[in-house]
Amino acid sequence: MINFDKLNLIYFSATGTTTRIMSAMGNALSHYPQTKYNLLTTDIESLHIPSTELAIFGVPVYSGRVPKIALDTLRRIKGDGTPAILFCVYGNRAFDDALVELQDVVESNGFVVLSAAAFVAQHSIFPHIAADRPDASDLEKAAAFAIRSLRVEMPIEKEKFHIRGNHSYRNTKNIPFTPRRNNAACNGCGLCIRQCPVQAIDPNTRRIDKSLCLSCAHCIAICPSHAKRFGGVLYWYASRKFKKAYSTPQEPYMVYRS
Ligand SMILES: Cc1cc2nc3c(=O)[nH]c(=O)nc-3n(C[C@H](O)[C@H](O)[C@H](O)COP(=O)(O)O)c2cc1C
Repeated sequence: MINFDKLNLIYFSATGTTTRIMSAMGNALSHYPQTKYNLLTTDIESLHIPSTELAIFGVPVYSGRVPKIALDTLRRIKGDGTPAILFCVYGNRAFDDALVELQDVVESNGFVVLSAAAFVAQHSIFPHIAADRPDASDLEKAAAFAIRSLRVEMPIEKEKFHIRGNHSYRNTKNIPFTPRRNNAACNGCGLCIRQCPVQAIDPNTRRIDKSLCLSCAHCIAICPSHAKRFGGVLYWYASRKFKKAYSTPQEPYMVYRS
């Protein structure tokens, strides 16, 4: 069993599902002092987590990879032989190389990975896929995963352990869809403009700069008048294809060092 005196919850979440899985883990370990770093809203210049603490890293899967916007910040978080638990959250298609990419980044920054998992959640671009995930069973599994991850033989042997995925990562593709606004429903509150993680929405015209937009769907998730969604012929065609190919529910994947 590993001993540590503080828990650091480090995650990126645009539509809240990664946050929900992280919260299930944080609640399961609530007897430890905790600091949360939500990379969507917190800009970390640099962070050092000592070996007496534990870090849990959680990211959504974007095109089979760690979202680039999260990767840039993760590279600035350093450990010192610090134990780490990793997880990704994916929209029932596949997590491809996201977990090994996360493993490579945190290990090269001085963390020792204890365990890794991939959980399923509603697809943020095609929300009818895995619409009810994470469900109660997923959240229970996430909590159990966090607790089981601490059961590691001491001293921890430092060599890499096998996580599903390829170290020559999947080529990322640009997502050809950006959220659309329903002018009649929009109340002009400007929340989407202020909270867009890449400032892709013009404050005057409210148009989205397609070259900046990540298609992360944060603006859709937070809009109080539900005035935003993906749409268009190409989107509906892709959406139908996606439903046919990826509707079979996937189960969480979990691996442990020992
Ligand atoms: C740009 C983008 C790319 C995505 N790529 C994948 C993918 O490759 N595989 C998959 O199963 N889900 C994919 N998804 C779905 C997300 O991984 C999933 O909805 C996740 O739960 C979102 O996390 P969040 O709610 O914390 O933002 C993608 C979503 C976005 C926005």
